Amino acid sequence: MIDNDTLNRREFIRLSSYLAIGLALPSTLQAANQPIYKTIPKSGEQIPVIGMGTSRTFEARNDPVLLAQLQQVMQTFFDQGGGMIDSSPMYGSAQQVIGTLLPMIKGEKNLFSATKVWIDGQQAGIEQMASSRQQWGIERFDLMQIHNLVDWQSHLETLNQMKTEGKIRYTGITTSHGRYHNQLISILKKHAFDFLQLTYNINEPEVESQLLPLAQEQGIAVIINRPYQRGSLFRHTKGKTLPPWASEFDCTSWGQFFLKFVISHPAVTCAIPATTKAKHMIDNMQAGKGRLPNQKQREMMRSYFKSL
Ligand SMILES: NC(=O)c1ccc[n+]([C@@H]2O[C@H](COP(=O)([O-])OP(=O)(O)OC[C@H]3O[C@@H](n4cnc5c(N)ncnc54)[C@H](OP(=O)(O)O)[C@@H]3O)[C@@H](O)[C@H]2O)c1
Repeated sequence: MIDNDTLNRREFIRLSSYLAIGLALPSTLQAANQPIYKTIPKSGEQIPVIGMGTSRTFEARNDPVLLAQLQQVMQTFFDQGGGMIDSSPMYGSAQQVIGTLLPMIKGEKNLFSATKVWIDGQQAGIEQMASSRQQWGIERFDLMQIHNLVDWQSHLETLNQMKTEGKIRYTGITTSHGRYHNQLISILKKHAFDFLQLTYNINEPEVESQLLPLAQEQGIAVIINRPYQRGSLFRHTKGKTLPPWASEFDCTSWGQFFLKFVISHPAVTCAIPATTKAKHMIDNMQAGKGRLPNQKQREMMRSYFKSL
């Protein structure tokens, strides 16, 4: 029996919405309610392990129905203790949509703003970053990443300068889909970055061999994009039940299974799943609570997924 008087507003909303969509409450409710934070190695700052991506999902400027739906998604994200929102000028109207929705959020907002520079030319990059700030409606970004290595030499100089001047807090570089790994390895060995963003999921584990160990060794925080392989992981699990031992790490859905696999890697700082649905946001945020699988359980997850 849950005594609502003992729950704060955020937890009450979280649990109510959890029940409303019919997800089973985890048996270890107490432990499962604690959000997991991980440390940014270069600063010691802690951030929640589940963030939010905005590619495609937030490209909704001319769609009032989707916009209202995304307001709920963002509200749920912050209500459940979310922090990092990741975007890019590459994502159509996503940054404008973020800027429209942020002021509409009720209650506490623990925003960690992350976007990217994605253009050739140093001056063009400076102008693009200024435009992104305007679109989000914020004075500075917490994290500015070089998107897909585009003109990285020019932008790295700018980002380091901006960081020195306090115009951003962290620098980063991104890739995805397994691209540019060798190039990234040589860049990271020569140049200092605070964050690395790349693709890692139970079906695409390639970064485990070199990039994740390198990031760990160099104290670079790691953001995981495409943790659901843009949703395609769910095709493998359609109609399949979770293994009974998933409850040993407070996992009650396939979404949580995939995210807990990713965030339990010791080199990973956070994952940024994207969604257009509040019920999926609740599910995603639940993955960042309770126990995480240990090494032995991670291997069981891998084998189980392969057997599906
Ligand atoms: N190079 C780069 O820098 C780069 C590249 C790729 C991605 N990214 C970043 O990483 C973010 C995440 O990657 P992504 O958007 O490609 O893919 P993703 O997060 O792996 O998958 C998104 C898909 O999963 C579905 N989904 C989300 N939560 C779910 C749940 N709990 N249950 C069932 N389905 C769920 C969503 O559909 P619904 O809308 O129906 O929930 C959506 O179709 C991007 O949005 C972007 O911010 C960066």
